[in-house]
Amino acid sequence: MTAPQPLIAGNWKMNGTSASLDEARAIAAGVGECPARVAICPPAILTHRMSQALAGSRVLVGGQDAHWDDAGAFTGDISAEMLADAGAKLVILGHSERRTGYRETDDIVASKVKAALRARLEPIVCVGETLEERKAGRALDVVTGQVRGSLPAELSGQTFSVAYEPVWAIGTGLTPTTPEIEEVHRAIRGALVEQFGEAGRAVPILYGGSVKPGNAAEILHADEVGGALVGGASLKADDFLGIVRAL
Ligand code: PGA
Repeated sequence: MTAPQPLIAGNWKMNGTSASLDEARAIAAGVGECPARVAICPPAILTHRMSQALAGSRVLVGGQDAHWDDAGAFTGDISAEMLADAGAKLVILGHSERRTGYRETDDIVASKVKAALRARLEPIVCVGETLEERKAGRALDVVTGQVRGSLPAELSGQTFSVAYEPVWAIGTGLTPTTPEIEEVHRAIRGALVEQFGEAGRAVPILYGGSVKPGNAAEILHADEVGGALVGGASLKADDFLGIVRAL
């Protein structure tokens, strides 16, 4: 089976206004012939305008979350179908900031994945252990448990990726060592193959958590790393392009 095409996705979180569309245009202009698929996941309210700004470029637009239902009385929420209608092609689901801040369980994440598939959005499903879990020697169990619980059988035959984001590495400047990243990515690969058979080998496993231009080459070339999910460093075109070019 050929290696999956890498994916490098920027997660803007709750950052950015109309003025930031110029940053997205600069990313699209600089992305060139890199071997990865590249995506930006802006705040939902920018999805439509960013899709228009990036039309005809290689850079895809994604959402950061979506509801598990297609429509209904859910004040303030946004459905996968709405994101797709606004031009999104992918959606991040189960980010640790959602799992912790909004108490999203594996079951909720799995329901959201199903909603994304109904809307033909490509899910990027996040998993990752806390520092306490790592210190207790439970990182592999936690992460593979999240993979099993958050990835529904409906993903069989679909295009999706998993992002390994150790919670303690997000926005902290801390990163696991390369052997630590590889150990978790191999465990995720094992869980994917258990669940989806040989097709599980074609799923890109992204690393996320304090990826910067300075550490991107080492991380992106590590065993079983199929790309990156980038937070802070995706907000500035120069930094994000530095990561994209590290591949
Ligand atoms: P960071 O965030 O790159 O700012 O650490 C990563 C993420 O939360 O996806």
